[in-house]
Amino acid sequence: MEKFVIHGGKPLKGEVAVSGAKNAAVAIVAAAILADEPCVLENVPEIQDINVCVKILYEMGASIKIIDKNTIRIDTRGISDPVVPYELARACRASSYFLGTLLGRFLKADVPMPGGCDLGDRPIDQHLKAFNILGARHTIDGGVVSLKADKLIGSQIYFDIVTVGGTINAMFAAVKAEGLTVIENAAKEPQIVDLANFLNSMGADIMGAGTDVIKIRGVKYLRGVTYGIIPDPIEAGTYMVAAAATKGDVYVKNVIPKHLESITDKLRKAGAFVEEFDECIHVKSEGRLMKTSFKTLPHPGFPTDMQPQFSTMLTTADGTSVVTDNIFDNRFRYVNELRRFGADITVEGTTAVIQGVSELSGATVKATDLRAGAALVIAGLMASGTTVVEEIYHIERGYENIDEKLRALGADITRVNDFDKARRVG
Ligand code: EPU
Repeated sequence: MEKFVIHGGKPLKGEVAVSGAKNAAVAIVAAAILADEPCVLENVPEIQDINVCVKILYEMGASIKIIDKNTIRIDTRGISDPVVPYELARACRASSYFLGTLLGRFLKADVPMPGGCDLGDRPIDQHLKAFNILGARHTIDGGVVSLKADKLIGSQIYFDIVTVGGTINAMFAAVKAEGLTVIENAAKEPQIVDLANFLNSMGADIMGAGTDVIKIRGVKYLRGVTYGIIPDPIEAGTYMVAAAATKGDVYVKNVIPKHLESITDKLRKAGAFVEEFDECIHVKSEGRLMKTSFKTLPHPGFPTDMQPQFSTMLTTADGTSVVTDNIFDNRFRYVNELRRFGADITVEGTTAVIQGVSELSGATVKATDLRAGAALVIAGLMASGTTVVEEIYHIERGYENIDEKLRALGADITRVNDFDKARRVG
């Protein structure tokens, strides 16, 4: 098992380039099923969740060509059986997107219940509601969700809660449905807009993505295109926070600053200097940061996917910060690990109270999920002494070359596996 060993206490300095957005890329890779011709996807992050989605396509019969490490050609015309392999589906949350894309193309789908980060209960009732409204029937048997429809007919879908995955799956089915679908209370995250741009470039007719009402007129044919995925706002935010947390001075490049406004705003409130350029953000911090309270919300609010990293930064801020994360019921599992660094945090339900301490000291900790893992790496960079972050496979699911990128910023972080250690001891 690989781990990161970090000798902390060094400010991050320099430039880092952000990779393609995980949560856009997983949807767009799955969307290739809807294309009637091959597609070339550019700026695809080289991360584990993408490997899983591409493997699902390959196992179902798609032909895949890796053009370079961030460019993939996908031809899904060879898929004839719309069944997603069990173990692959359980390896990531985005496997649920194959429900919508397979249903859109084949009018049927068999997809095991998705896996992904353990953030508490993650139902798919809203996805199923959308499919049912468009004319599909579903059964769940032995952990496999099966969908069937005679035809899909455009209709009005009102989501009871704002759901990113539900909105994306409804878009997939509606793109190939007959007539007009109106999705209300839709999610507005950047990946929804990126997906709509991708589908529209293939010939889909989607309006309103990025607002809470999306209108989709179904089409019969979607042509192949070459499409570049947006930069990852959460990866960008993670480096911005890491810069501020280590009293660093970092230019985060290849970003869309508009996608980062809620993070920029909170970093400024905490006392960091943040400067925006066209495709770059400069974050600098000196001295002690200030307490900052926030709540996570659907976009354009503060993203739940940045909560663990930002909360970690606040562990050494001056004063008491209150952080509420209502999006998932269990997004504070990393707090137990943070306490090992000497952080003073109490959690009551979905609220954490962080009493700033003067410094963190290195510890051996376990990543409990993707963003928790990133947060523990930040804690290690902030802390004096040595930190070991175990179970880093969680981090590899969503961050491309995080250790290399941090080393280029001056961090002392090494990837070690037990085999290397055993060899040294031996
Ligand atoms: N929900 C339901 N019913 C549903 C769907 C969702 O009750 O049918 C609830 C969820 O339990 C949650 C809330 O609605 O309480 C929001 O969930 P959402 O559907 O928006 O999340 P998701 O699609 O499962 C995506 C990202 C997550 C990110 C959330 C929120 C992907 C693959 N995952 O998940 O990303 O936290 O949106 O923005 O896009 C991550 O990247 O670390 C990550 C967890």
